Parts: sequence; C-alpha cells; structure tokens
Amino acid sequence: MQVIICKNAQDVGEAAAMIFASTIYAKPDCILGLATGSTPIPTYQKMIELYKRGLLDFSKVRSYNLDEYVGLSGDHPCSYRYFMNTELFDHVNIDKANTHVPSGLGADPEANAREYDKMLAACGGIDLQLLGIGRNGHIGFNEPNDDHFVYNTNIITLTESTREANAKYFDKPEDMPAKAISMGVGGIMAAKRVLLLATGSSKAQAIHDTVLGPVSPKCPASILQTHPNAQIICDEEAAALLK
Ligand code: PGA
Repeated sequence: MQVIICKNAQDVGEAAAMIFASTIYAKPDCILGLATGSTPIPTYQKMIELYKRGLLDFSKVRSYNLDEYVGLSGDHPCSYRYFMNTELFDHVNIDKANTHVPSGLGADPEANAREYDKMLAACGGIDLQLLGIGRNGHIGFNEPNDDHFVYNTNIITLTESTREANAKYFDKPEDMPAKAISMGVGGIMAAKRVLLLATGSSKAQAIHDTVLGPVSPKCPASILQTHPNAQIICDEEAAALLK
C-alpha cells in the first residue's frame, strides 16, 4: 500500500483527479467505483474542470457507487444518488444510464443488495475504486466490528460515530436513516486499483490504524494492506500520526 501525503485537501483532490484522468485516458470505457462524502468533493470539482476544458471525456465511462441510505429516494437532497448527480454527473458528459448507485428503497433492501452484487459481477470489474474513510475506519459504510469482514453488498446499521458525523447534512438530525446499503469489503477488494482519500485531523487515527495497525475488522480500511494496488492520498493533518 502506497501512501502519498499532500499539503492540504485541495492538493489531495488534484492528485486524485490526475489518477482518474490517467485511468480514463488509458481506458475510455473504464468502470469507476465512486464515493460520496465531503472528502471527494475537491476531486470531483477538478474532474469537472478538466471536462470543461475539453481534457476529459466521460461518454463511455460507467460507474458504480459504494452506498446509499436505506429509505431515501434519489431525489432526496441527502441521498447519495442526489449527491452524485449534483456534485459530478450533472456537470460532465457521463450517460446517467451508465451510473449506478445501490437502492435503499422497497420492501426488501436485502434483495437490492443481492442484485447489486450481481451487477458488479457482470460489469467486468471496477478499474478504479475511490474511497473515503470514516473516523472509525469504515470504508463504504462497512462499519467496524470485532471479528469479521462483510464481503457482499449488505444492509448496515450505522454506528453512533457515523450517525454523529453525517447528521449535519440533515435538516433534523433525527431524520438521518439508521441503516444503509453498502458494497461489501469483497466488492471493494475486487477492484483493480483502490484509491483512498483522507483529509483533516479527524481522520488521523483511522489513517494510522489503516496503515500501521493490524489487518482487522476493527478498522475495516486496514484490509487495504492486502490489496495489490492500493494507494492512500491524505493531507498533512490526516497523516499526522504516521510520523
Ligand atoms: P467524509 O466521509 O468524506 O464526509 O468525511 C467519509 C466516509 O465516511 O467514508
């Protein structure tokens, strides 16, 4: 696992966007694994800028997102489908029909999870998987636990730490769903290349545990130590405990 330390969040975004650009240049019909949250926003902004300057073409790109809240439809401003549309897809020439976000709607979200894994298996493999990281070391919404990694797309009960971190996006904190659907660790590890971004001091412990700790479901991101092509790009604050 390679760790690249940049000065600040803006530089992390620029470095990550360059990796996206090189992936799309090398394979115009590549499959991107995309992430939501505040961390990837500078990356998406830079990708939009490159597109507007005529340097990037998303017309053949396909994408699969990591996760979605259970119970929120794609037009809910806090849903991750809405986030992807407004932060990236609406501003580039990607065909929305080629973009996939797991669905947390319907009577049987577990069935949606099984369906998502079938789509992932059929797509031919994610070329570049983008990840953020939770303060508790989660990737996607794969929350820490004592004894096992969850491999398949699954329905997750969000931890207090995650609910606390994300409640700010909801008008009323109590409106935040208690559950999410998330690609499992198996789907993430199956990607050909993984790029985890982390910015800010609140991620310093999680980055320490990911890079220097044991491979353990207590810090789900630590499994990336075993991925053959994983990179972490973080800013100086998130890297503070690596020194
Ligand atoms: P953040 O979320 O980018 O908003 O900090 C990251 C995550 O929880 O995976």
